[in-house]
Amino acid sequence: MLSIPKSENFKYIYNLPYIARVELCNLLNNNNQWEELAGKWMQYDVFTIQRLRREDNPTDKLLTLWSIHNHTILELFVLLKNIKQHQGIKLLRPFVEDKYYWLLESRDDILNRANSLPQVPFEELTLATNGWDDLKIIGKGGFGIVYRATWKNTEVAIKKLKNKNIDNQNKALEQSLKEIKILHSRPHENILVLYAFSISGETPCLVYQFMANGSLEDWLLLRNQRSPALTWLQRYEIIKGVTKGLQYLHTIDKKPLIHGDIKSANILLGKNFEPRIGDFGLVKEGPTNGFIKVSRPQGTRPYLPEEFLKNKILSTKVDVYSYGIVCLEVVTGLSAYDSSKGLFLRDYVNIWIDQNVSLQDIKAGDENVNIFYHLLTIGMWCSTKVPIDRPEMELVFKQLDDF
Ligand SMILES: Nc1ncnc2c1ncn2[C@@H]1O[C@H](COP(=O)(O)OP(=O)(O)O)[C@@H](O)[C@H]1O
Ligand SMILES: [Mg+2]
Repeated sequence: MLSIPKSENFKYIYNLPYIARVELCNLLNNNNQWEELAGKWMQYDVFTIQRLRREDNPTDKLLTLWSIHNHTILELFVLLKNIKQHQGIKLLRPFVEDKYYWLLESRDDILNRANSLPQVPFEELTLATNGWDDLKIIGKGGFGIVYRATWKNTEVAIKKLKNKNIDNQNKALEQSLKEIKILHSRPHENILVLYAFSISGETPCLVYQFMANGSLEDWLLLRNQRSPALTWLQRYEIIKGVTKGLQYLHTIDKKPLIHGDIKSANILLGKNFEPRIGDFGLVKEGPTNGFIKVSRPQGTRPYLPEEFLKNKILSTKVDVYSYGIVCLEVVTGLSAYDSSKGLFLRDYVNIWIDQNVSLQDIKAGDENVNIFYHLLTIGMWCSTKVPIDRPEMELVFKQLDDF
């Protein structure tokens, strides 16, 4: 096989080195496989195909024709996958960046990866949600709409992923598969349970255990007129559970898992307010130690530290920062970002601490108020500006447990 560096130099069909092109033509001229490519996938008309048939090397002429429109090697790579031309795929691999290899996966591969998790027909979920009835919506986020439903006599939450066009469909699929893989293979008492998934319909869906008390954010901001507010003891137990779940993710394997979107809206509360971390849409495998650079930071801005937003440095310490902000939300009962003042919660807390003003959420009552100081300290510590000054979750848990 050719070993040639992958780079921008090999972007277009006409950049394909001569030897590779000759080999590819031999492959596709054989059994006239080029005809399927030309007709079904490149959508040339019968007359063009008839004309090409008269050529000695029809594939070569076809590629020349196709490259007039600046088609790329990556596109050809995908088409070869569609016609199951495995030798051709192998041939083009050196010219395609590794990050695109997942395009080669078939739905079967994907299903194998998701293992034993049951796959549900899309229609079954349509039925369970009364045809995706708006009245059944219990939440909306960046990636999808969440419906409450009864499925197999079980209360569930169904996330229907957003899916605006075909391009996004692959992204949505990839997104949900990451979530499936992780949620399914790593059960923990503080991580949301996934029951099933569906990729047979117009858009991927995930079926989760229903969390009767909704998100932590709803409770802190007293949405849906839920009352009374959470007590200090409840807040303490919730944070302790979140700490355990996050520590579990960060220390799961040689490589940590970085959740990437820790925030009060992604912390779900069960019947007895037992917390579970949800929404693994941005989860990433981290480095064994240190950090990785990302090309585009994703997540929720008020919960993200500067080194990530500005310098694109991702590590478990990004989650630790976000967790710190959640602690600050929990003790103050305020939003992570005040849009009317244009102020981030961390800055707000900093200003008032300096002036000795109490920030305590008075809705939590007067019992066990010492929890307020304790969680405030942890929140400030975890959201320190310099990443190495932030503690690991293990240490945070010890501090909480000793309290
Ligand atoms: N299992 C669940 N039980 C109850 N409510 C849920 C559940 N999952 C999600 N929700 C609600 O839906 C909202 C969005 O869900 P999430 O998984 O965060 O979706 P997104 O990926 O679109 O952000 C949550 O903030 C919460 O209010
Ligand atoms: Mg979310």
